[in-house]
Amino acid sequence: MTHTRSIIIAGNWKMNYGPKRAASFVQELVPQLVHLLHQHQHIINVLCPPTISLSAVHSMLAAHAHPRLALGAQNMYFEEQGAYTGETSPLMVHELCSYVILGHSERRAYFGESDELVNKKTLAALKHSLRPIVCVGENLQQYEAGQTEQVIRTQIAGSLADLPEEKVNELVIAYEPVWAIGTGKAATAEIAANVIDLIRQLYSSMYGNGAADMVHILYGGSVTASNIAEFVALPDIDGALVGGASLKLDFVELTRKAAEIAQSK
Ligand code: PGA
Repeated sequence: MTHTRSIIIAGNWKMNYGPKRAASFVQELVPQLVHLLHQHQHIINVLCPPTISLSAVHSMLAAHAHPRLALGAQNMYFEEQGAYTGETSPLMVHELCSYVILGHSERRAYFGESDELVNKKTLAALKHSLRPIVCVGENLQQYEAGQTEQVIRTQIAGSLADLPEEKVNELVIAYEPVWAIGTGKAATAEIAANVIDLIRQLYSSMYGNGAADMVHILYGGSVTASNIAEFVALPDIDGALVGGASLKLDFVELTRKAAEIAQSK
């Protein structure tokens, strides 16, 4: 029997909203999300503001605590401490967060993050009881050249190597085709589901059927309140990593739609 996974709706704010703007936004957003989470059992929200705003958002979440409203960082380094100017360690992230996005395509493209580095970060996150959201996805050129499967195989094998057995159920993977990010041109649910199915098979061959049944695999790329239902309705898609649409109160509506579908899954 397959396990029923909860639905994760994570908001990646990217480099938007410093501490002041973040505080005023969450003051409006959080009570509405908490209200929604009380009504729907199977949904988890994760807010991922920029590092400098984590503390402000953390305070707001503490004031409106809900076990399924979590805080996540957008990146971190793998070392625990030391002379790494500008970086944030897993220990520091863990003081405020329970999730961390790793290997986002913008980190891979603009900051040269390799699968090897993403793997080190993933292992560090798991070691420090953070739930990593590891991002994979092909770019437009690779998509048009029919290389999606090869790219995904390489990224999954490299980024998710050597995970400790007792942690393999805690992983979240986000499939984000780069050509769909911030373009307003989401993948079709069918394309997303095919790649997500591949990811689940690859995870199964690495860590077994049980782990593949537990791992959460999200879709990301131009997800909005208007299209979320198509993705979440599919059995293998366990939620979404949302960029632009997480910066507005529409995120509540998007979460509501996902929650309604989740209930009937
Ligand atoms: P988008 O970003 O929803 O703005 O396309 C998604 C992401 O990059 O995580």
